[in-house]
Amino acid sequence: MSNYLYVVKKLNFSKFDSKMLRAGYKVCGPKSLFLKPYASSFELSAHYVSANTAANVQNLPRLPVPKLSDTLDKYLKTVRPHLNDTEFSQTTKLVKSFESGEGKQLQSLLESRAEKHLNWLEEWWLNTAYLEYRDPVVVYSSPGLVFPFRKFNNQNDQLQYAAKTLLAVLEYKALIDGNKIPVEMMGKNPLDMSQYRKIFGTCRIPGEKRDKLSYNDSKYVTVIHNNHIFHLDLWGEDGVRLNEDQIKDQLKKVMKLSETATDKGIGILTSENRDTWAKAYNILIKDNLNRESLADIEKSLAVLCLDAPVDLWKCPDKNARQNLAAAQTIHGGGSNSNGCNRWFDKTVQFIVGADGITGLTYEHSPAEGQPIAVLTDYIIQYIEQDKKSPTQSARPKEPVLLKFAMNNEVSEMINNAKTNLNRLADNLELNCFTYDKYGKNFIKTQKMSPDSYLQMAMQYAFYRLHQTPGAHYESAATRMYVGGRTETIRSCSIESIEFAKTMLNAQSSPKEKIQAMKNAINAHKNYTVQALQGYGVDRHLLGLKLTALENGIEVPKLYSDAGYIKSAHMRISTSQVACKCDGFMCYGPLVANGYATCYNPRDNDVNFATSSFASNTETDCSKYRTALEQSLQDMHDVLLQNTQSKL
Ligand code: COA
Repeated sequence: MSNYLYVVKKLNFSKFDSKMLRAGYKVCGPKSLFLKPYASSFELSAHYVSANTAANVQNLPRLPVPKLSDTLDKYLKTVRPHLNDTEFSQTTKLVKSFESGEGKQLQSLLESRAEKHLNWLEEWWLNTAYLEYRDPVVVYSSPGLVFPFRKFNNQNDQLQYAAKTLLAVLEYKALIDGNKIPVEMMGKNPLDMSQYRKIFGTCRIPGEKRDKLSYNDSKYVTVIHNNHIFHLDLWGEDGVRLNEDQIKDQLKKVMKLSETATDKGIGILTSENRDTWAKAYNILIKDNLNRESLADIEKSLAVLCLDAPVDLWKCPDKNARQNLAAAQTIHGGGSNSNGCNRWFDKTVQFIVGADGITGLTYEHSPAEGQPIAVLTDYIIQYIEQDKKSPTQSARPKEPVLLKFAMNNEVSEMINNAKTNLNRLADNLELNCFTYDKYGKNFIKTQKMSPDSYLQMAMQYAFYRLHQTPGAHYESAATRMYVGGRTETIRSCSIESIEFAKTMLNAQSSPKEKIQAMKNAINAHKNYTVQALQGYGVDRHLLGLKLTALENGIEVPKLYSDAGYIKSAHMRISTSQVACKCDGFMCYGPLVANGYATCYNPRDNDVNFATSSFASNTETDCSKYRTALEQSLQDMHDVLLQNTQSKL
């Protein structure tokens, strides 16, 4: 019972609320105490609640369905930069007829769905954005997160760091399980914390047409070395947790058992197109040994990849190291590097490379980047504190090599997967860098929102490079709602294009430039505030489309119109993933002729990870990076010029 009390108090359920009663809470004892009937599931199985989102444990508000007319007005504004006058008048007509016609019926059906679901979007989003998406998770969906670089001089350094990482993970998991992670706030609004419960023990399982997620709680990790896969218990037979030296010893044994790399590493299959992997998976699980080994990986807490060296310290500079590390965390450098030393279906795989690349790859479907970034800061701080483990098991369990039955069919699948991964890896151009001229502090002194400012720098960079508006996706967290994930901020606006044009016009005065910058930043901030509250354009339009599909209603023409297609073809795919340490998240572009830009704005610098596809002739990642740096410099200079002229 005391545990329940703790949950309730921790989540700050302090006042009586009739909504809580309707949500199934019971008043127990003092009026301030509310208990959910299935609170025991919450305690017994950490993943039950989050996996089903059947519960509104934090009693958060529900994601609203915006008014149709509001969304359509907003939509028309966002399509404007991408259309000529004729196209725009065509789109406007279509929107009006949608609003008074089929849109009305779809809106009403969507509103009924919203009454029946705690979050009308959650399941749809999980399926359409992730589980039904058939391209490989590698490059197309799973981000990498690069930790600050380390210099490992020998195997002992690498394994010590790996052992510390695992201990940090266990400490963090204990905090999650004990509801001790402070509830994050956005202003006065608490955010949905359920994503934290999905980080460990989760695995994506391939399925034809749609994958699924499996949630487990366990006391071991999967370790991969030289493409061999091991089960490593972190608690001994006496039920006591291993300490740092003991984990290090176990990892040494893993290395000893896998001194030679195998070219039959089964993990490479997880980098395949999802239908291809699903077919292979169904073949594999016909065999008992394979089925057991696969289940073992799926149920582990996380994966630890002990990677081969990649000449990190032969890189000429930090920039080259950042690119190398980004590639290692996104795709493992292909099959000839560490690409086979992975299990890409696992929500988190920690990477500890022999010469000092450290970081993680995360499978995106259960959680956004922000909880993963918070975990990263925790791990980095934990390692720096160099805490000594309080426990020592008297009887650690030996690591176990997971075996797979191989036949010609499986070997061929592995070879194909290698070819495909190498193609993917070769096609991803990365340009990651620290912009160190200034960071959030300078932007704040200008009384501007750092995020909106950086977004406008990207708009300006794209326009300067391509002389055309770039449809631009930024994730905004909708975690103030139960089960909330993200809404799209459409960063390309009439104002952002006006800003880029004004900056590029040699005739514009500094005053005009600054005014255009402020207009663009304010327009972006305004959209951001709405998106954070669930009043963007994209999720609502998606909801209406899926409502049509589910109810056998023809998908309205609005969705095949130039306005929709061009404004949703996100040539700039961006996300702020903020961590305190000198790390960064990185991922691939959303469309063939696009760029990705993930950024970590810190007080005095910004880490950027940009990427594009080498095969595309329209894009060039290094030119985009240069344009971005130039844009940041121009914006800074014009602002400073203004400040100085005021003095
Ligand atoms: N003058 C001075 N300071 C200002 C300012 C202004 N006009 N506007 C904002 N600031 C300050 C803020 O108070 C804040 O201060 P803090 O550093 O003390 O917290 C800081 O600048 C940053 O604010 P801002 O840049 O405006 O936005 P943000 O950091 O809140 O980020 C989003 C905006 C949309 C990125 C964020 O809300 C969000 O949703 N993040 C999650 C994105 C996500 O899901 N990513 C992962 C996808 S996988």
